[in-house]
Amino acid sequence: MWRVLVTDEMRLGEVKNGDIRLDYKPNMPREEILRVIAGYDALITRSRTQVDAALLEAGKNLKVVGRGGVGVDNVDLEAASRRGILVVNVPEANTRSAAELAWALLLAAARGVVDSDRKIREGVWDRKYLGLELDRKTIGIVGLGRIGGQVARFARAFNMRVLAYDPYIPRTRAETLGVELLDDLPDVLRQCHFLTVHTPLNEETRGLIGRRELYLLPKGAVVVNAARGGIIDEKALIEVLGEGHLFAAGLDVFELEPPNVEHPLVQHPKVTHTAHLGANTFEAQDRVGEAVLERVIETLQGNLAYAL
Ligand code: MLT
Repeated sequence: MWRVLVTDEMRLGEVKNGDIRLDYKPNMPREEILRVIAGYDALITRSRTQVDAALLEAGKNLKVVGRGGVGVDNVDLEAASRRGILVVNVPEANTRSAAELAWALLLAAARGVVDSDRKIREGVWDRKYLGLELDRKTIGIVGLGRIGGQVARFARAFNMRVLAYDPYIPRTRAETLGVELLDDLPDVLRQCHFLTVHTPLNEETRGLIGRRELYLLPKGAVVVNAARGGIIDEKALIEVLGEGHLFAAGLDVFELEPPNVEHPLVQHPKVTHTAHLGANTFEAQDRVGEAVLERVIETLQGNLAYAL
């Protein structure tokens, strides 16, 4: 019998495997996770639970960590590997939903949707506001993996020119997507009216878009981050928005989540927010739940095909 602890909100469905005992505790505080984790063979999380060295150390019997989603930045992969704990994720399960949310933020930011909604609720019928059209504009995509690629497909429906920067993907992928892949990030930035980032968060991408990069964008550009907080440097974004260089921003993520309500970006009138909801659709969460559980069970049974 394998014991599996789930510590984030998930739609896992029915567990049909009699060898699995699953404890679904999505609100379990960290202290309690640390206290009970030694009794489990596997842990399944999304991004709420910090699977750091201390948690992995406490998990004396842990064999597998399943990450329900793409990003593994909340899992200390080195510590897991030192302790022989396998980590699996389900990168394909929420691609579509994440790409759709990036577009929801881009469109909302370009058209002042949230601000207009707020004003109407306050009794203000403001028809003076002017937004931005997308037709024949250029969108820059940083990171042309699964999600960035899907964002590019949607961009073509808006009749946009699509540029991308991604040093790790083959040129043929960009060609198939109808995307111009440039070797130099500044070259992309100088040309794009809309910028969206779709990379993982790691040492290479933390602060990748800072003050200098934001100022390379044409004046009046819109930036979107539905990937990970910190890829666009928050301090730089606050400054550059404040100096009037950008038209607006759409953010699904923060460097520290949840952000403090006093955070200047939370309160910023030019920023449209969602609460790290990229993967939050019924469809994506059904796929994530099913796939992560299946992968964790298979890995416990000795199939190493999904281990990162
Ligand atoms: C992901 O990395 O796929 C998402 O951040 C998952 C989540 O919403 O927790």
